[in-house]
Amino acid sequence: MYLNFFGFKEHPFNVTPDPKFLYFGESYQDALAYLIYGIRMRKGFVVLTGEIGIGKTTVINALLERLDDSHRIAHLVHSNLSLKDMLRFIFRDFGLNPEAKSKSELLLELQDFLMRLDHKGGNAVLIIDEAQNLRSWQLEEIRLLSNIETAKRKLIQIVLVGQPELLHLINSNELRQFKQRISLHFHLKPLPREEMDAYVEHRVKMAGFPGKQLFDEGALDEIYHFSEGIPRLVNTLCDRAMVKACVSNQRKIDRRLVRQVI
Ligand SMILES: Nc1ncnc2c1ncn2[C@@H]1O[C@H](COP(=O)(O)OP(=O)(O)OP(=O)(O)O)[C@@H](O)[C@H]1O
Ligand SMILES: [Mg+2]
Repeated sequence: MYLNFFGFKEHPFNVTPDPKFLYFGESYQDALAYLIYGIRMRKGFVVLTGEIGIGKTTVINALLERLDDSHRIAHLVHSNLSLKDMLRFIFRDFGLNPEAKSKSELLLELQDFLMRLDHKGGNAVLIIDEAQNLRSWQLEEIRLLSNIETAKRKLIQIVLVGQPELLHLINSNELRQFKQRISLHFHLKPLPREEMDAYVEHRVKMAGFPGKQLFDEGALDEIYHFSEGIPRLVNTLCDRAMVKACVSNQRKIDRRLVRQVI
């Protein structure tokens, strides 16, 4: 509703993963670099954690764009899958046929596929998002997949992505063996104040705002205070503030206005 009022071409704070709106601050760049390093160096297990709405899935989407064609990628979002079902999804993503095969047949065929891929210089990557919802028995089964290796290297790189509860799960006693396999863990940090300001400005600009500063310092103070630098909360709040500004016929967003929508 406020697009015309402010002169935007599109919505600046949508939660769609449009790459144009990406703003990669320091922690995001580091996260991406760690993930790429872990995959290239065939580290086996890599874990990415961060608070709700901080941008984990966004980082994974950026990762997918950066991995070249030598990578075969299976991308699962957690659901209550048994290893057999998980293997079916992995087969589908790797372009293999999972039909009418038992779990051990699937595992053997996967191993065969991974060996051939490795031989051709390829690398297989399994990404599991929302991994904080996995049960310990599922993580144990995933560990079995990571056992597929040659004497020199891991044949499948597994990236687990989840909210901080994922760490609690991994640190539990029953998953001691699992924990030992994790070679890299990166925790995504919220945007510091300067980066949050730049994030807001970037989005406003990319959406075609013709003016200079839409949110003044006081408004940004309040947004930071409320969101603590979590992008999804920043988006929601900025969006609400703009709606309110529009209905109040106010062209600039200030502290008072933001307070009204918190
Ligand atoms: N680096 C970024 N640049 C631009 N927008 C971002 C960035 N990080 C997050 N966002 C915005 O915040 C929203 C939430 O990010 P995302 O879905 O990646 O979070 P998440 O950590 O995966 O959350 P959840 O824990 O709920 O899965 C995104 O839809 C996007 O709009
Ligand atoms: Mg997510």
